[in-house]
Amino acid sequence: MGVRTAIFPVGGLGTRFLPATKAVPKEMLPVVDKPLIQYAVEEAIDAGIENFVFVTAHGKEAVENHFDRNAGLERALIESGRTDLLAAAQVGNTTPGRISYVRQMDALGLGHAVWCARNLIADEPFAVLLADELLRGDRPPLADLIDLHDRVGGNVISVIEVPEEDTGSYGIVAPGAIDGRTIEVKGIVEKPDPADAPSTYAAVGRYILEPAVMDVLGEGRRGAGGEIQLTDALAEVIGTAPFHAVVHDGPRYDCGTKIGFLEATIALALERDDLGPDIAATLARLLPQQTQGS
Ligand code: UTP
Repeated sequence: MGVRTAIFPVGGLGTRFLPATKAVPKEMLPVVDKPLIQYAVEEAIDAGIENFVFVTAHGKEAVENHFDRNAGLERALIESGRTDLLAAAQVGNTTPGRISYVRQMDALGLGHAVWCARNLIADEPFAVLLADELLRGDRPPLADLIDLHDRVGGNVISVIEVPEEDTGSYGIVAPGAIDGRTIEVKGIVEKPDPADAPSTYAAVGRYILEPAVMDVLGEGRRGAGGEIQLTDALAEVIGTAPFHAVVHDGPRYDCGTKIGFLEATIALALERDDLGPDIAATLARLLPQQTQGS
């Protein structure tokens, strides 16, 4: 069966970005001029997703408002003749009824957030996209996962190779057969020490999952950090269905960290015709000062 529904977990506390995330959801922090969550939603739309499920939490109302219409703003833009901005103001105007919101209530971990959406997936394979992983590519990175799922079914995740010393920050795959960018997943373990890591292939926030994963998540077992980990549920379903990883081959920014977020901001600004030359000149001006100061 094709993949029609995507889950966007946005229920986390965003503690690494305090104080910015005290009143503003982390997923609403803008990279250049677009909130992180919009990049993920646009990737899903471009990959053919039709139904959008946000797992939100107290204080995340800005996410709902962002994907709603703002009739007053649209009217003001029309009346003042600034219709060139209308498209930017109409973000996420998908067909009514295609966006759903469910509350997580307690931030018990990513696995718990995904499980909170169990009644909204129609018992079909579904996608999960983490907005703080900003993935870029010639085509939407999620589309590579959907293509593979269309061919072999089962569970499919996106991975990148990370430095050995960083395995403790990721879910790490135990690889089987490798065919180009496709890796058979024989095991997956959350945040292993480098000495225990089965490889350096790390999961990076894009998943196509079979509905059976929800049953495992429903058992509510706690893992690393006392959280209900999605990775642990994935480890349990290995062997029950095909399981593959696709190596993401485009740029990837971990916008859950300050350095990754800043890198994304600079890289995406450099890509743009309206900002690229100015940001390059600004960096050239600032960098010698930095070198002198250090
Ligand atoms: P993170 O692991 O980055 O956690 O979540 P976080 O709470 O957002 O941020 P820090 O670590 O405190 O700085 C990855 C994604 O999973 C969602 C987050 O909103 C983010 O999009 N998430 C995480 C939930 O929806 N619920 C949770 O309980 C945990």
